[in-house]
Amino acid sequence: MALVPYDDRDGWIWFDGKLVPWRDAKLHVLTHAIHYASAVFEGERAYGGKVFKLREHSQRLIDSARILGFDIPYTVEQIDAATMETVAANGAPDCYVRPIAWRGSEMMGVSAQQSKIHLAIATWAWGNYFADKEKGIRLTWAKYARPAPNTAPTASKAAGLYMICTISKHEAEAQGYADALMLDWRGQIAEATGANVFMAIDGVLHTPKPDCFLDGITRRSVIALAKNRQIQVVERAIWPDELARAQEVFLTGTAAEVTPVAEIGEHKFTPGAITAALMDDFGKATRGEIDVKL
Ligand SMILES: Cc1ncc(COP(=O)(O)O)c(C=O)c1O
Repeated sequence: MALVPYDDRDGWIWFDGKLVPWRDAKLHVLTHAIHYASAVFEGERAYGGKVFKLREHSQRLIDSARILGFDIPYTVEQIDAATMETVAANGAPDCYVRPIAWRGSEMMGVSAQQSKIHLAIATWAWGNYFADKEKGIRLTWAKYARPAPNTAPTASKAAGLYMICTISKHEAEAQGYADALMLDWRGQIAEATGANVFMAIDGVLHTPKPDCFLDGITRRSVIALAKNRQIQVVERAIWPDELARAQEVFLTGTAAEVTPVAEIGEHKFTPGAITAALMDDFGKATRGEIDVKL
């Protein structure tokens, strides 16, 4: 299938305060963010025209920017409103939403204290993040580890942190896998390149503590949904050899939603009842049919 480039589509992008025609949402090549990764972003999904956990995402965007040392010049209420305006303008009630904030072109060099801060929001129709999602995806191990919190701003959804994700995902895809599972700097299981991970061991869900990677909004929703079903959830350090004891494994994320995992390296899993129940519950939660409190 021919690729439709993301800079050559119809629609509207909210750019620094107003909707502009899609193809006009352009940057100069001397933009600090593309040289020094001074950008933070969000990934959201709208279901039936309503963005799931919009306020949590807009707040995380603001918090991510503060961790990188800049303030987005809009309030959380203004970002929520701009997001809803963009979803409505593009006319696709089920869509992916991508807000991004970045340092502009006023200064070049590592220091960029006087750069203007920009904000843009785009939306587009996006189906399953993983092909063959339902039957379970195959993962390999990533070459890179998630960095320690004193090595990088790991609590921020910062563009720079995705450098090792793209390298790892490309290498996995080149070997025929859907994605790569990343360890952290201690050698414990961390997450996939764009999603958190859970495993079911004898009816109990285990997931790594998000102390050096993103505490996903989907992750928190799935924990609440599991507890709602009286499924015990343990957040703890998990070592890779513990995968040998897991019966089910799944990923969670805005793009991935709840995606069963069939294979990680030498370990094989069969998507089972817990995964199926949480996929179903998450689908209902995104459409407001189950209330999830984070
Ligand atoms: C690296 C990474 N981890 C985890 C997640 C899951 O976060 P959320 O559920 O908030 O989308 C994402 C984004 O989807 C991500 O990019």
